[in-house]
Amino acid sequence: MLIAPSLLAADFLHLSKEVETVNAHADIFHLDIMDGTFVPNISFGFPVVEAVAREARKPMDVHLMIVHPEKYVERFAKAGAAMISFHYEAALDETDTVIDLIHSFGVKAGIVINPDCPVEKIFPYLGKVDYVLLMSVFAGFGGQKFIEDTYARIRAVKAELKRIGSPALVEVDGGVSPKNAGRLAKAGVDILVAGSAVFRAEDPAAAVAALREG
Ligand code: DX5
Ligand code: ZN
Repeated sequence: MLIAPSLLAADFLHLSKEVETVNAHADIFHLDIMDGTFVPNISFGFPVVEAVAREARKPMDVHLMIVHPEKYVERFAKAGAAMISFHYEAALDETDTVIDLIHSFGVKAGIVINPDCPVEKIFPYLGKVDYVLLMSVFAGFGGQKFIEDTYARIRAVKAELKRIGSPALVEVDGGVSPKNAGRLAKAGVDILVAGSAVFRAEDPAAAVAALREG
């Protein structure tokens, strides 16, 4: 299982130190982009992503929680993203176009759904995406409680991926901690995103290790 700490919970005054924690102990940088419209919160934008890119030695996974994701894919790709995911709820009929656009920059494409979106809605795209991001809280804020229904949703997506023979990875985001990491690993999750559980821990390196052990 790959561990992707979410910088949303990082100490932005000492970002360099937080980036080094990910470089040394984790696998992927998870960067949450919020626009105050698709979600009722605003996080950070290009200057932060570009600063992280200068020191990152692990791939950057950009999670777009924005309306009109197609407008900003190119800039995040040029800022150094190796993976870009967007919400199906923000793209709807344009989903195929956004996936193609992400791929056109040589970046891995991920599709994200909130906990209230039926998983079947994204089944038509599973043969095309590189990963599926299942939100285990409603997108918008760190530090929320993990929604238990997520396990069943992971199983349903994994079953469909298997049925169509897709190698796409499954990522889970929100309320992830060493307490549920084991069960998530058993359910077949490939990438675990964790913000508070890593950066608000007394020992972030130990927290990453605990997530990995499950
Ligand atoms: C929520 C973000 C998450 C968030 C997770 O909208 O997508 O990546 O940072 O934070 P925790 O791990 O604290 O729930
Ligand atoms: Zn996220």
